[in-house]
Amino acid sequence: MAFQLSPAGLAEVKKELGRYETKESAIIPSLYIAQKENNGWVNVDVINELARVMELPESRINEVFTFYTMFNQEPVGRFHVQVCTNISCAVEGGRELASHICGQLGVKLGEVSEDGRFTVSRVECLGSCGTAPMMQVNDDYYEKLTPESAMNILRGMK
Ligand code: FES
Repeated sequence: MAFQLSPAGLAEVKKELGRYETKESAIIPSLYIAQKENNGWVNVDVINELARVMELPESRINEVFTFYTMFNQEPVGRFHVQVCTNISCAVEGGRELASHICGQLGVKLGEVSEDGRFTVSRVECLGSCGTAPMMQVNDDYYEKLTPESAMNILRGMK
């Protein structure tokens, strides 16, 4: 069945539309809302639904969606582990951290783990360079990680 926003999601998108002078300004927050409701990723059904609700052309929403890396174009696990591998985190072992997590979870970057729980991605700066290395898991941020502390956090996620 094609994606439809929940009543709560619809209300949130309408609230975003009321917040800005132009509908275009509400596209990013609305994509966030819809992505969350579609198990963490955006497909053509999500774009169509937002276009319908926001009364904007699909192409306009698609443009924004494909421009920003925080919107996922493929399905992700229930926990989307985004490890920062930008310069400050890379210096502190961010790339090795991402590889370690992949190895421990038995997934390649971008894959969904067999149990459906995890997807690991490497991302650009998450804005917390002073506490590198760090990762974001869904809406939460974890800083000053070691391979062990990162795995402890992830193993605790059910
Ligand atoms: S480089 Fe990793 S948070 Fe900025």
